[in-house]
Amino acid sequence: MDDIAKKNFLCIIKVLGTGKFALMWKHIYPHHKKNKFAQCINPICTMILLDGKIASAHFKVKIQEEVQQIIAAGGKPPHLAAILVGSDGASETYVANKIKTCHEVGFQSTLVRLDPTVSQQTLLDKIQELNTDDNIDGYIVQMPLPKHIDESEITNAINPAKDVDGFCATNVGRIMLEQPGFVSATPKGIMMMIDYFNIPTAGKHCVVIGRSNIVGGPMSILMSRKTNPGNCTVTLCHSATQNLTHFTLQADIVIAAMGKPQFLKADMIKTGAIVIDVGITRITSTQTKSGFKIVGDVDFDDVSKKCSYITPVPGGVGLMTIVGLLQNTLLAAKKSFVY
Ligand code: GUN
Repeated sequence: MDDIAKKNFLCIIKVLGTGKFALMWKHIYPHHKKNKFAQCINPICTMILLDGKIASAHFKVKIQEEVQQIIAAGGKPPHLAAILVGSDGASETYVANKIKTCHEVGFQSTLVRLDPTVSQQTLLDKIQELNTDDNIDGYIVQMPLPKHIDESEITNAINPAKDVDGFCATNVGRIMLEQPGFVSATPKGIMMMIDYFNIPTAGKHCVVIGRSNIVGGPMSILMSRKTNPGNCTVTLCHSATQNLTHFTLQADIVIAAMGKPQFLKADMIKTGAIVIDVGITRITSTQTKSGFKIVGDVDFDDVSKKCSYITPVPGGVGLMTIVGLLQNTLLAAKKSFVY
């Protein structure tokens, strides 16, 4: 059993207990026989699944322990609020998962629902209210917002000390300048996952596909920093990149965040590449009862045969985004950064 596999097993058994662990194992690797964990190592190590369930369980336990310490010392639990404008299906699911996970780790949470026709000024007023509410440690405004709302004005109205999504100009600037501040939740979660699985990154060529302010942009900055994880040579590819495969074939690490379902194929990566899939899209499927399935930007069945590490979708980066957000909220509650 190699170190990573050992770490996975020990951590998940600690978090879940052996009974739940066996159930989860059956769910993740249904083709392996119960209690034959040792025999399962070889197939896993040719392609290691960067399992968000395992990594997020590890970090959630750590966060929960800190919350208990805060409460034992007479403090109050961290409190996260989420503003949800309208009732977009995907946003509803994301926010519900964030709130559910808050309760798992002992955080307080508040959901502020606003009508999709809400005016820019009413939303700004709500933000002002949360900015000055001492009971709220951090909050997010779930994106995307309706077309009539200026997202940039909204994110920049958030008090940087409560901007646990790390979206406002102050936090983005601080991260760019390597100053203390909130790192955007998805890139933060990915860095935590790379660290958890002990993946060597220094000197590697990391190709990020997608240049969004939320994922691709900050991801490219974090991976190029002189840190561990990080210290990569980074290429940022996007919709205007010519001959994308020319770049992805050179990548030791590919981070796919372009929002194109099952776009990245095996013939676009080199053997042994590390593949991180940020995409989450619901597509129609004849294989499921519901008629839908969730896929990433990577064609998992194809790419997983050729890479060394890969994140599944669902059950990969999405779970780590929530952990990144919880970790930021804990930092906000502890007033970790001075603004
Ligand atoms: N929409 C998609 N991802 C995110 C996220 O991480 N935070 C917020 N606020 N909105 C999102």
